Order: sequence, then structure tokens, then C-alpha cells
Amino acid sequence: MNYARIVGTGGYLPEKVVSNADLEQMIDTTAEWIVERTGVEERRVAAPGETTCDLAERAARRALDAAGVGPDAIDLIVLGTTTPDHVFPSVATQLQHRLGCHGGPAFDVQAVCTGFVYALDIAYRFIRTGASRKALVVGADTFTRIIDWTDRGTCILFGDGAGAVVLEAAQEPGIIDSRLGADGRYKELLWVPAGVSSGYDKTRENAAFVEMRGSEVFKVAVTTLKDIAEQILAANRMRVADVNWVIPHQANRRILAATAKRLGLPEERMVDCVRTHGNTSAASVPLALDVAVRDGRIQRGDTVLLEGFGGGFTWGATLLKY
Ligand code: ACO
Repeated sequence: MNYARIVGTGGYLPEKVVSNADLEQMIDTTAEWIVERTGVEERRVAAPGETTCDLAERAARRALDAAGVGPDAIDLIVLGTTTPDHVFPSVATQLQHRLGCHGGPAFDVQAVCTGFVYALDIAYRFIRTGASRKALVVGADTFTRIIDWTDRGTCILFGDGAGAVVLEAAQEPGIIDSRLGADGRYKELLWVPAGVSSGYDKTRENAAFVEMRGSEVFKVAVTTLKDIAEQILAANRMRVADVNWVIPHQANRRILAATAKRLGLPEERMVDCVRTHGNTSAASVPLALDVAVRDGRIQRGDTVLLEGFGGGFTWGATLLKY
């Protein structure tokens, strides 16, 4: 069986910045409240007409450049998103077309904020079995398109973006282990009630936007992020002290701080982009990975733990040697 390792990372944030001061003009809130409760100071919002595939393409090209890999060498694209450009075809197939690497499998994965960790797990297994040699794995969302900008409980948290990695077959890890989970009982703590099959309930205002029971999500997120880190480390006979960097889903500074505390992890070993990214859903983990690789914090040979958590609920952890 082959191993799989990340050979390049890329990220892209749309140009438009929405600051907390901007939000003060739109909803009944204060910049202080937002920073204190969430850690978010600004987030990026896609321009009108700018789609998830546009963001994904920019991040993917940067990852390919960093890897020194041409698009024609890519034989698999797995893309995590909850905000595809169309009901179908998938963003992944359109990304494949734009990159000009036709023929290999390309598909989207829907696991909300865990989308990238799910996509990475799938690509890893393709490479393990020899079905793929070089995969492009992307997390991309224009989550602000499903946000009600009059709902102060949600609009303060989210932003748009995309992150990508090139994953390649290798003789040694690379990815050491990857574990996924889900529990559908939590559906209504974090969801968009409207949908293609269930229809748009016209009697229900704002059914096409994210609804969230924030403090309940918060509790499950912290417990789950702690549990999945401990489980994957224990399964590989490792301890928190053996990990150089933890990159959890960038939901909220307080969630990150509480998770670090429960794990006994010094906060400076957790990559935190919440201040400038907000919660970019499936893009959050690969974007943070790309930031820490490019600013030199994550070095080749470092042990890194990625953690996803999102609507469903879904969750997942990837333990790897960078
Ligand atoms: N500005 C000012 N006041 C606000 C705001 C705001 N933007 N939003 C809510 N409030 C008020 C509430 O109305 C409430 O007022 P009340 O006491 O008069 O009723 C008060 O603040 C406290 O509300 P809570 O919801 O209890 O506030 P909390 O401290 O829990 O913070 C928050 C809210 C920031 C949403 C928090 O619960 C949170 O971050 N939860 C996790 C959410 C999350 O990360 N979701 C995504 C994770 S998974 C994924 O990414 C898919």
C-alpha cells in the first residue's frame, strides 16, 4: 500500500473585507462584543458573481504551484463544499475543466465545515489503494451566501474562502491516520431548513439561511474536538506533546482556546486564523494550514493534527507528518 503526503498548499480569500465596524452599521451589535465572544475582527466576502469555483480555482492553482505539479498530473479531485455554484454539476468537475485535467474522477463532498477533512480522508484512501497517484483536495465555500445578514447570532461568524492541497503517493507517511464521524441527531442545532427535495417553505421566513443554536453548538464542538484529538493520538500511541501543530476548524476563538485548554496544548501550538478569516466552513482548515506553511511555522517533518467539526454534526481528524 502506498502512503500519501501533502506536497503543496494554497489558499485564497476574496478581496472584500467586512469589518466589525461595518457590521455595527448593519445589525444591533458592537465590535467589542464580537471580538470578545468570537475573536473575529474581520472576514472576507465574495464579490457579486464570484463563485465557490472561482475561489477554489485560485487556491488550487496556488497549491499546484507550491507543489511544482502541473494540472495534467492530477488524476483525482475531491472538493468539500456546502455552497456549490449549481445544484449540479459539482464544483469539482468544473474545477477540473478549468484546470484542463480531464478524465479522472472529480466530485464534491458535503460535510459542511468538516468538508475538507472528509475530502482529504477520501483522497488519502484512493492513494493508499493505488487508485490515484496525485490528488487535488480542496475546501471551498461562499458561506456568506447562505447567511441572513440581519441575524446577529450568525452573520458575525462567517466568511468566504478556499484552501487546497496536492496529495501525492509516497513511500512513507505523510498521512499517519485519518478518522471521520457523524451524528445526524444534531441536525437542528446548525442547519439550513430549505432544500432542493424538501422545498422552500414560503411560510417560513428566511428558510434558505443558516439557523444556529450557538451556545449548544459551542458545547458539542469543544467536547468533540477534544475527544477526536485524544482518540487519534491514542490509536497511534502518541501524546499531545508529540504534535507540533494542531489546526482545528476555525469556528471561533473561544472554541479553539477551550479545546487547547482541555487537551493541555499550549495555545501557541494551535494555528488560529479566526481574527482575519472568520469561519470559512470547508475552507477553514486548509486555509489555516496554508497560512502556517507559508509563514514558516509548519516545517517539513513536523507532526500536524487537523480537526474538522461541522453541521450534521460531522467531524474528523487527520494526523500527518508534513
Ligand atoms: N451582538 C450583541 N449581542 C448579541 C449578538 C451580537 N452579535 N449575538 C447574540 N447576542 C446576544 C443574544 O441575543 C443574547 O442576549 P440575551 O441574553 O438578551 O438573550 C446574548 O448576546 C447571549 O447570547 P448567546 O447566544 O448565549 O451568546 P454566546 O456567548 O453563546 O455567543 C456565539 C454567541 C458567539 C454565537 C457563540 O454561541 C458561539 O460562537 N457558538 C458556536 C458557534 C459556531 O462556532 N458555529 C459554527 C461551528 S460548526 C461550523 O462551523 C459549521
